[in-house]
Amino acid sequence: PTTLELPDFSLVVLIGATGSGKSTFASRWFAPTEVISSDRCRGLVCDDENDQSISADAFDLVRTIAEKRLKNRRLAVIDATNVRASERRDWIALARRWHALPVAIVIDPGLDICIERNKLRPDRAFGPKVPQRMVQEIRKGLRNLAHEGFRQVWKLSSVEAVDAAIVTRKP
Ligand code: GTP
Ligand code: MG
Repeated sequence: PTTLELPDFSLVVLIGATGSGKSTFASRWFAPTEVISSDRCRGLVCDDENDQSISADAFDLVRTIAEKRLKNRRLAVIDATNVRASERRDWIALARRWHALPVAIVIDPGLDICIERNKLRPDRAFGPKVPQRMVQEIRKGLRNLAHEGFRQVWKLSSVEAVDAAIVTRKP
């Protein structure tokens, strides 16, 4: 099993397609106050966690909360798909601004798993094309994550790997 030993003061960026298990992983290993969910922020500004059209407002909120936490030297976890390098760039910049360690955790149990899980979710009524595109895009960018600026890159590339992973903190 992989032990993800994170510095106490990290900005953790989860990367994974819809249905990959990001929110589940986050709630298993991080305190609720540490996890900043783009869906939750979407809900806060418009009562519909699935309304993609208000993304800009939701992400402003994610960024603001993350920045406040980092300003107070608190670890923060960005729970969003973070599929593209352009989406991840902001988080790297934010971590650097506050001298937090940018950490990437890639959750990739496989496309079939993402599709199957989303079938069971009434709130994720899109076809397989959506996770398919995300999985492709994430895998394409995988090798470049360190170059993007992530100082730790963890890849959990199967259901078993996600299950077995252990997250620890070091001062
Ligand atoms: P989005 O928020 O849509 O991007 O998805 P997500 O990556 O946050 O996935 P989430 O953690 O919500 O998991 C999706 C579904 O898969 C949920 O119904 C979970 O209960 C289930 N799930 C997540 N992780 C696991 C796991 O390790 N094992 C099993 N059996 N189910 C899981
Ligand atoms: Mg989620």
